[in-house]
Formats: sequence, C-alpha cells, structure tokens
Amino acid sequence: MSPAAIDVVFGAAPGKVILFGEHAVVFGQPAIASTIDRGIRVAVSRREGHTDGPVLRSTNAMLPVRSKPDPDGEGPERLRQALAVLRDVCGERVRELSFSVDGAIPAGAGLGSSAALAVALVRGVHRFFGEDIGDDDLIARAFAVERVFHGNPSGVDHTTIVTGGVCSYEKGVGDSVGTATPLVLARPVRLVVGVAGPHAGTAIAVGALRERARRHPDHYAHLYEGIGALSRAARVHLERGELAAVGELMDLNQGYLNALGVSTPAIEALCAIARERGALGAKLSGAGGGGAVIALVDDGVDAANAVVRAFAAAGYAAFATDLPQSSSNPQQELS
Ligand code: MEV
Repeated sequence: MSPAAIDVVFGAAPGKVILFGEHAVVFGQPAIASTIDRGIRVAVSRREGHTDGPVLRSTNAMLPVRSKPDPDGEGPERLRQALAVLRDVCGERVRELSFSVDGAIPAGAGLGSSAALAVALVRGVHRFFGEDIGDDDLIARAFAVERVFHGNPSGVDHTTIVTGGVCSYEKGVGDSVGTATPLVLARPVRLVVGVAGPHAGTAIAVGALRERARRHPDHYAHLYEGIGALSRAARVHLERGELAAVGELMDLNQGYLNALGVSTPAIEALCAIARERGALGAKLSGAGGGGAVIALVDDGVDAANAVVRAFAAAGYAAFATDLPQSSSNPQQELS
C-alpha cells in the first residue's frame, strides 16, 4: 500500500523496569532491566494543510505532554526538540506527519516513558512509510531522540525496550553503543510496581549524583562496584530460578541506592510495606528521587494482591506485572 493511501499507522513500545544496577550502569557497571506489559502507542497520520513542523498531541493524561513534573516549564520545548531530532534521524518527511500518543505508563516515574516514546515515534515513522527498520538502527535513532529528555543516558532504557524481555546491559565505551544480552528466566518473575510520586527527572538525578560523587570519588566508586557485583550475581540467580536470592540482592541494591542519595522517605516506606507483606525483596527502579518501587513477589496471585492492596491502602498507585521469560518482539505484545 502506498503511504498516500494509509490513514493512520501505530508505533508501539513497552515501558521498562530496572531490576539491578541503575546509576552504576552510567559508570560502566552491568544492569539488569526488563520490559513490562504496558507501554506507549503513537498513532501516525499525514497532516492536513501546511505548517512549520510536525504536531504531537497526547490523548492520555499519564503521558509526558501533560503530567511530567516540569519545574523549568520546558516540557513543550523538549517535545519540540524531540520532534526536531526525529526529523534529523528520520528525514524531512517527518514534517508531513502528526503524532497522537496514548499509553498506560505514567511519565516521570522511572518506567521508561521517555525512552518508550522515542522508540514508538521512530517505529511509527518507519512503519508509516512502509519501511522495515532493524534493531540497531532503531536503537541509534531512538537514542538520539531520548537524549533530548535525558541528557547523556547510559542507553539501558531504550536498548532494553527495543531488545525486549529481561536483559543484562552494559554501556558502550566512549561513543560506542551499549550491549544488551537477553536472559532466559528459569521461572516466572512477578513484580508489584508502586509509584512513589513523580521524580525530578533522570538528567537531574544523574547530575546531582555526579556532583556528590565528585567530592568523594573513591567511596562512590566502591558503591558502583558493589552494585555491579549484585547485578552479576543476580543474573545467575535469575537464570537458575532462585527467586529468594534475587529478592535478597534487591534489598541489598536498595541499600546501595539509599547510600547514593537517590532514595526518598516514600520509596523507603513502600519497600518496607512490600517486605512486611511478604515480598521477597524491594527496591526503587530508575533514577529515584521519587518514581517507581518494584517488589518481587511469589508467582501466586495472593502474594501480588497483598502487596498491591497494601500500596493502595497507603495511597500509592500500584499494579502487578509478569516479566517476559525470554526476549521477544515487544511491539507484538502491546495492543
Ligand atoms: C534510568 O532509567 C537509569 C539511570 O541509570 C540513568 C541511565 O542509565 O542513563 C538512572
């Protein structure tokens, strides 16, 4: 079908959680991340009439267009910049398009909404023009768009989102791209996600941590190395299905994140509630300073329900999610 005959096409991408290694991954340590079964969808259509640039609108209040905390009032400008970068990487033809975004992951919660938006936009443009795009090109183009939101991220979010499933990720050296190694889980892994409020933004959290670390570089380097060791050990336990051990390592990782200064009282409270209700382990996921907490629970329905109910009773939005047991095309999993 020629592009002219197409009314609307969709580009989709899932959100993500980080099981181990956020922040340390920026400094070369491995992280373990996974896609989740909810994400973002971008409807792409041809624009009516002539204007200066593409249009992006959100039909869902959970998305960055309206709900991301925006202390500098830079949200709309950021989106304009993201569309300008999309034009750079996908061509001037992007000017002919309009984008409508909806989805089921809150923005500013450490669940990968910006990276998912970047991946869904690039996918949507290529699909609109009837082109296949390989994972390597998709990762490179989405990274350029994501940088508008996140400054200089490690690449773990969008690389995991494109690869799909649970991955061990290591940042590339210098300008080279990072490496995501898909993991096959021996047992189903069920998480409860609670949202401890909006976070200030990944670029701000990473910048503030870098500033603190500048004063005590050796001590912070030890913390990053400790987190990297947890990621390596957790990978083995995940591949063997040793979930009690994975939970214990999540608790340890949370201790390191608290030491790095990226936890908050609300995050600590959610972790404590989850552990009291029988979770095997709990930690923040993403940049911290707010955002998501993930609790590992037994794969019985009751264990997840007990933690979801306890989070809700404490006033926090929560949902349960099962991680993919192996890598898969995440585009297929979302409606
Ligand atoms: C954000 O999801 C993860 C961080 O480690 C930042 C990054 O890796 O770019 C906090």
